[in-house]
Amino acid sequence: MIEQAIKGAIRDIPDFPKPGIIFKDITPILKDPELCEGIVDAFVEGLKDTRIDAIAGVESRGFLFGLTLATKLGVPFVPVRKAGKLPHTVKQKVYELEYGTATIELHTDAFKPGDHILIHDDLLATGGTVSAASELIQEMGGKVAGFTFVVGLGFLNGLEKIEPISDKVIVLANY
Ligand code: PRP
Ligand code: MG
Repeated sequence: MIEQAIKGAIRDIPDFPKPGIIFKDITPILKDPELCEGIVDAFVEGLKDTRIDAIAGVESRGFLFGLTLATKLGVPFVPVRKAGKLPHTVKQKVYELEYGTATIELHTDAFKPGDHILIHDDLLATGGTVSAASELIQEMGGKVAGFTFVVGLGFLNGLEKIEPISDKVIVLANY
């Protein structure tokens, strides 16, 4: 039900940001408060048996539902940001993209060693971003509690990359 509602709201944008890519635009979801609430409720339901000490949301679209989910669960939200954006002491992770590299950062005091951190992003594509976030969290002494995504692009095989990290993976709408 939630899957149909999400798919009904998502807008396909051909040739964005590059020719040949069909971009999944989630902004119509954000204009529908009932659907936003349904998304958060679906995550909460799927996570009810999972220990979560904090939620790490990935810049920038992972901030949207990440904070709402954290607030609903009553746990801290910590931002995983692109390089150079976090003001305090950071630890960073460089990871490979199709062409070149990218860098993500977390504040060194984002959580305590031993904490169970749920990683949230809007969309799972290759899984490269959340795998890098997982490595960063683990290097900082955290345990990855699981992953939540609003959308998954199954044909890019991101699940294969992240299932070895945690068996708790929630993808609400699969393509
Ligand atoms: C998109 C999306 C995920 C990531 C998924 O973010 O929001 O964060 O790519 O790709 P992957 O699974 O192949 O790593 P993008 O880099 O476009 O930035 P944004 O969230 O700031 O728009
Ligand atoms: Mg993103």
